[in-house]
Amino acid sequence: MKDIWIIANWKSHKDISQSLEWIDIVGPRIAPADHLKVVVCPSFTALSDLKKTIEVSKYQVTLGAQNISPFDSGPFTGEESGELLSQLSEIVIIGHSERRKNFNETEQIISLKIQEAKKFNLNPLLCVSSQDQLVSDQVQLVAYEPLFAVGTGIADTPENAADFAKKLKQKNPNLIVFYGGSVDHNNAKAFLDKPDLSGLLIGKSSLDAEEFIKIIDQAKEIL
Ligand code: PGA
Repeated sequence: MKDIWIIANWKSHKDISQSLEWIDIVGPRIAPADHLKVVVCPSFTALSDLKKTIEVSKYQVTLGAQNISPFDSGPFTGEESGELLSQLSEIVIIGHSERRKNFNETEQIISLKIQEAKKFNLNPLLCVSSQDQLVSDQVQLVAYEPLFAVGTGIADTPENAADFAKKLKQKNPNLIVFYGGSVDHNNAKAFLDKPDLSGLLIGKSSLDAEEFIKIIDQAKEIL
């Protein structure tokens, strides 16, 4: 049976108290399940408090960061290095379309970020929107996030997403491929039912704790 990953990407939302409120609603309702992985990627400012709460309350939730510096620790004002992040998170999103577009992230910068993540044992989750974007052999987790679907309310079809995942896996069978872009509890299961898709990267619908729990419930129907 495949593992199913349900990943919340909060983007630039939720202050510390809102983050803690969310985790105390969602955390207690995630029963340990062998093949279910729940990941939350909050803002940098909330990572530390969330980590403490998850540890103390023994919630079955893994933390991820939304970005990483392309450089080692050092004189890089405003950057969070892999070394610093590795104390707080296990996963890091790299190459999200909002970063490629708004922060001019090139394939070269993305490649440096992947190297930094690997150097400090962070698992890189690479986002791509087309087959032309590079998927380094250092990456195992990849999210297909078509540009027209991110934050628009118009998801891709599960068939297209599965086809995209299949093509990626033909190039590298070790990849674990997710879909992201306007996922909610109504369409989640149709994506998760596809054998080539192993999970969902969820923006807007992850912000509401009850909606996120409904998506996890959809995943549990498959497990
Ligand atoms: P969305 O965002 O679910 O709000 O479309 C997904 C993402 O950007 O990862």
